[in-house]
Amino acid sequence: MKTGTRRLRGNETLRRMVRETRVSGDSLVYPLFIREGSGIEEELPSLPGQARYSPDTVAKGIDTALNAGARSFLLFGIPETKDERGSGACDDDGVIQQALRNIKRAFGDAAYLITDVCLCEYTTHGHCGLIRGGAVDNDATLPLLSRTAVSHARSGADMVAPSAMMDGTVAAVRAALDAEGFKGIPIMSYAAKYASAFYGPFREAAGSAPRFGDRKTYQMDYHNGKEALKRIEIDIGEGADIVIVKPALPCLDIIHTASQRIKLPIAGYSVSGEYAMIKAAAARGFIDEYNTMCESAVAVFRAGADILITYFAKELAGAIRKGDIG
Ligand code: PBG
Repeated sequence: MKTGTRRLRGNETLRRMVRETRVSGDSLVYPLFIREGSGIEEELPSLPGQARYSPDTVAKGIDTALNAGARSFLLFGIPETKDERGSGACDDDGVIQQALRNIKRAFGDAAYLITDVCLCEYTTHGHCGLIRGGAVDNDATLPLLSRTAVSHARSGADMVAPSAMMDGTVAAVRAALDAEGFKGIPIMSYAAKYASAFYGPFREAAGSAPRFGDRKTYQMDYHNGKEALKRIEIDIGEGADIVIVKPALPCLDIIHTASQRIKLPIAGYSVSGEYAMIKAAAARGFIDEYNTMCESAVAVFRAGADILITYFAKELAGAIRKGDIG
C-alpha cells in the first residue's frame, strides 16, 4: 500500500485507539426553559423534543437528563409579566430564582446549575438591555445585569452566564458577585456572540424576540472574526472564567483560533437553529438524526471547544455511553 493513513482505519479497535478528539458527558451542558407558573410541562413547537417547565416541575427534566448522563444545565427563565426594565430578572422570587432553589433542594450538587443572565426574556420590548431614547443604553444596563447575577447566586446558581453583550458586563458582574460574598462563583461569558438567524427557535420558545429593530447594535456582525477574538480577550481581562462562542457550527473557525490563543476553557453553544435544522431535516427523511447529531457535536470539540452547550445533551450523553462517539 502506498503511504497514507488507511492502515490506521482498518479495524474498529485501532480506529478508536488513534482518535484525536475525545468526548465526555462531563463536557456537555443542557439548556432548559423554565416558565413562571405551576404544573407546566409543555413541548416546544419550535424545538421538537424540548420542553418548557415551571419551577415546580423542572426537577423532572433535570432528573431525566441526569439519568441520561448530562450533569450541567443552563437555565433560561420566562416570566409571567414583563416590563420596560426587565425587573423580573433580578427579583429574588423570580422564575429562575424559584427554580434554582427547587432544583438545589432536590439534587444538591448532583446538578450543576448555570444561569443565563440577560434581560430580553423579561423586557416588554424584547431587547437585552435598557432602552433610552430608542436605543439600548449599555452602561445603564450593567447594574441590572449585576443585580440579576447576584440574585441567581443567592438562590443557588453554581455559575452565571451573562449573555446580553453589553460592554463591561463581566467586570461589573464580577465586582458585584465579589462584593456580595460570591467570590467563588465563576462567570461563563458569552464573549463572542453573533447576531444570528440561528437563534430563531429559541426566541419563539422564550418569547424574547425584539419588538422593534434587531440586536445588531450589540451582537456581532458575522463578517468579522478578529473582532470575536478581541471580545474574548476583553472578557478574559475583565475576569471571565470560561468563554462562549455562539452559534457553534457557523463559528468553528472562531473556536479553533481562540482555542490556540487563549488559556481558558471555551464553550461552543450549538444553538436552537442548529438543533432545529437537524430535527427538521431528519423528520423529512433527508438526513439521519442520530449520526448527524454525533458528527456535529464532535466537530465542535475537534475545532477546539472544551465544553458543548447543546439541546442534544441527553442524546449525546447516551451516544457516549454506548461508545458511538467519545
Ligand atoms: C439571550 C439569549 C439568546 C440565546 C441565548 N441567550 C437569544 C438571543 O440572543 O437572541 C439563543 C440561544 C439559542 O438560540 O439556542 N440573549
